[in-house]
Amino acid sequence: MSEHSASQRKDAHLDLAKQTLADGARPSHLLDRIDLPYCALPELDLPQIDITARFLHRQLAAPLLITGMTGGTARADALNAALVSVASRHNIAIGLGSQRASLEAGQSQHALRKAHPKACLIGNLGGVQITGKAGLALAERAAGDIEADALAIHLNPLQEAIQPEGDHDWQGVEEAIGRLVDKLACPIIVKEVGAGLSAAVVRRLYAAGVAYIDVAARGGTNWALIEWLRQNPEKQSLYKPFLSAGIDLPDALAGARHIAPDMHIIASGGIRHGLDIAKTLWLGADMAGMAGGLLQSLEDDNGQLHPDRLSDKIVEIQEQIRLSCFLTGAKSVTMLKKMQNY
Ligand SMILES: Cc1cc2nc3c(=O)[nH]c(=O)nc-3n(C[C@H](O)[C@H](O)[C@H](O)COP(=O)(O)O)c2cc1C
Repeated sequence: MSEHSASQRKDAHLDLAKQTLADGARPSHLLDRIDLPYCALPELDLPQIDITARFLHRQLAAPLLITGMTGGTARADALNAALVSVASRHNIAIGLGSQRASLEAGQSQHALRKAHPKACLIGNLGGVQITGKAGLALAERAAGDIEADALAIHLNPLQEAIQPEGDHDWQGVEEAIGRLVDKLACPIIVKEVGAGLSAAVVRRLYAAGVAYIDVAARGGTNWALIEWLRQNPEKQSLYKPFLSAGIDLPDALAGARHIAPDMHIIASGGIRHGLDIAKTLWLGADMAGMAGGLLQSLEDDNGQLHPDRLSDKIVEIQEQIRLSCFLTGAKSVTMLKKMQNY
């Protein structure tokens, strides 16, 4: 595919991701059916509640990761610069979107690391891009370019199957993941992009030595729908039954935690606020990830960026996590996690 059409696709993804979320594609979420155990006698001082979280040998201000969205176009680079800057200011973790296109075009994103030496910064490549002999070298370049704290490998077969230009050969990905676990200098995080990691897949990743996963479940940004909207109308009926394929977030979390008690599990897929995050911690996650919801805060319908709006949103999310702990009688997010009922 030409560089021009890859850039057009990335920008179309940004627009469609915002549009499909704004269209009310997710009026409710399965997390709405879950209530944290309410405690009328907390014996706590709300501002003293400790919501810090340990992740990749860093102490973060909150158990929150802005998960990878984009990169490789002028618009995407401006978005990433704003995302990394806000994440770094609030001491939360931040992932870049796939680095493949920019690396293949000979571009570097090292300026992001240079500007934010202490950021918890995560690189990103697709599962199909790390197969074969060249896979390890590409992963080393991606991680090295930004001195990554970890490299996220995204598994998105549903998206690729429906995407007009998608990769349909998914052979060798599992083996390639095992190779990265053994050979890459930094940890890897295996993630979906919104259709969820099943318990069976988590079992295979766990056996391969993967220590970090992001379940990225159904319930938020819907990549099947986004690619379907980009598909040739003649092909849309073929893919229509698959638009809601995937695993819901509470199910994905329960399955993953049951299989892998000591894995670092990131909960994502339609997280809207700090109460959602607290619920996922209570259900067994170590931290939560957000993408589409934060993109909506950062970029308006005219493509203008509003880092202050994103910053306010992150402060609000942190206060909501703190309040959730208070109302559950937990003095910290660590204690909230110990109240898990899986
Ligand atoms: C505009 C956009 C672009 C994305 N690009 C990537 C990507 O390049 N690599 C990746 O691993 N995930 C990508 N994602 C998926 C997110 O990291 C996340 O897993 C998914 O959107 C589910 O979270 P959400 O419901 O909070 O949006 C992208 C998401 C959005 C909204």
